[in-house]
Amino acid sequence: MMQDLNPPREILDPIEVASRDEITALQRERLSWTLHHAYENAPFYRARFDAAGVHPDDIRNLSDLAKLPFTTKQDLRDAYPFGMFAVPRDRIARIHASSGTTGKPTVVGYTQGDIDHWADLVARSIRASGGRAGDICHVAYGYGLFTGGLGAHYGAERLGCTVVPVSGGMTERQVTLITDFRPDIIMVTPSYMLSILDAFRAAGIDPRESSLKVGIFGAEPWTNSMRHEIEQAFDMHAVDIYGLSEVMGPGVANECVETKDGLHLWEDHFYPEIIDPETGDVLPDGELGELVFTTLTKEGLPIIRYRTRDLTRLLPGTARSMRRMEKVTGRSDDMIILRGVNVFPTQIEEQVLKCEGLAPHFQIELRTEARMDAMIIHAEAAESHASPEARAAQADTLAHHVKSVVGVSARIEVHDPAGVARSEGKAKRVIDARHRD
Ligand code: DLL
Repeated sequence: MMQDLNPPREILDPIEVASRDEITALQRERLSWTLHHAYENAPFYRARFDAAGVHPDDIRNLSDLAKLPFTTKQDLRDAYPFGMFAVPRDRIARIHASSGTTGKPTVVGYTQGDIDHWADLVARSIRASGGRAGDICHVAYGYGLFTGGLGAHYGAERLGCTVVPVSGGMTERQVTLITDFRPDIIMVTPSYMLSILDAFRAAGIDPRESSLKVGIFGAEPWTNSMRHEIEQAFDMHAVDIYGLSEVMGPGVANECVETKDGLHLWEDHFYPEIIDPETGDVLPDGELGELVFTTLTKEGLPIIRYRTRDLTRLLPGTARSMRRMEKVTGRSDDMIILRGVNVFPTQIEEQVLKCEGLAPHFQIELRTEARMDAMIIHAEAAESHASPEARAAQADTLAHHVKSVVGVSARIEVHDPAGVARSEGKAKRVIDARHRD
C-alpha cells in the first residue's frame, strides 16, 4: 500500500504557503538586486543591457523584465569557461558543467551562498515528495560535473536524511544496496529506474517488497503513463523533479506527493516566464510555450531570461501557493519532424506503455529510405510475451497506436527481452541517422 506522505503545514517554509502578494513583493525585491548585481559585476550583462538601452532602474515591475534580451546556451558557450561569472573566481566554491552533444560543455559556477540556497531548495523538493528527516535516501543520479548527484546529495543532507551516494551504474549493486540498506527514498532518472527494476526481477527479488516509499525522478522527460508503470512495479510514489544546470541544477521545481499535478516552481528563487518560441513574446499563464527563467538570488552566475527550450505552461498553485509548471514532455531540441508531423519521444513512450506485452524500454531510429524520412521504433518483448506470434501482434498493435494517436507511420522492431540499450542516466531516445543534404 502506498503511504500517505502529505507533509503537515507547519513543517513547510512559510513562503511555500504565503499569499501571492507576498511572493510577488519578494520577487520584485530580489529581481532588482539581481539586475543590479548582474549589471555591475558581469560585463556580459552590462553590454547586453546597454545595447538594449535599458538600465536596471528601468525595471520596476516583474512584467518590465520583457524589455531585457534573452540569454541562450550559445551565450554561455561563447563565454567558456568562466566569462559569465559575476563574482571574482576565488569566490566560486564549485563548478558544474553540462556535457552538451557537440563542442565544449556549458560551465556554471556557484558561490558558497548559492550552494546553500540550492541545498535548501532540494531539501524542500524532497519534503514535497514525501521525504522527511531521518529517512534513508539512495542517490543514483550521476556524481561529477552533472548537477544531479551532488545537487540531490546536499539537499538530502540538508533535510536531515541519511544519504547513500551510490551514483549511476553497477545496476546489480544498486539492487543489493537497496535490499540491504532499506532506503525510503530513491533519487534517479526514470529511465535508469527501469534498468534497476529489471535488475530486481533478474535477481528474483519482488520490487514491491522493497523498502522504497518514494522515487524522485527527473533530468529527462517522462510521462504520467511511466509514473503509473513505476508506481505499480515498486508500490511506491513517483514524483517529478525538474531543473537545469544553467539555472541551478535539480530542485528548480518539484511535484507535491499529495497532488502529483505538475511541478511547483520555487518562485522565491526563480522567476518564470513562458514565451512564444518563434516571436519571443511573453504568453499569459495557461498557454503552452518555452520556459524562460531569471534567477533571483544567484551570486556566482545570475542568469537573466534564460531560454530553456523546454516546452510547458504555467498553472496556478494548488498544494503550495507558488505556481506550477506542467510536466515537461518535450524540449524543442528533441522534437522530431517526420514528414511534416511534429513528434516528441514522450508521445511514443505513452504508446509503448499501452502495449501489454512490451517492456517499457524503447529507442527511436530515424533513417532516410528512398529519399523519405522513416521512423523505426525499437521496442522490446516482455519475458512473458516473447514468442514470435506475440511479438508480431505487439508490433501491429504499437504501429496502430502510433499511427492513430501520434499521426505517423512507424516500423516497429520488437527485440528480445533486454534487447534495447539500457540507460544509466539520461536515456538516449532518438538515434538520428537521416542523411542531411
Ligand atoms: O538534468 C538537472 C537535474 C538533475 C534535474 C536531476 C532533475 C534531476 P541538465 O543536465 O542541465 O540538468 O539538463 C537540463 O534536462 O532543460 C530539461 O530539458 C531536462 N529535464 C530536467 N528535469 C526534467 C524533468 C539536469 N523533470 C535539462 N522533466 C532541462 C523533463 C527535464 N525534462
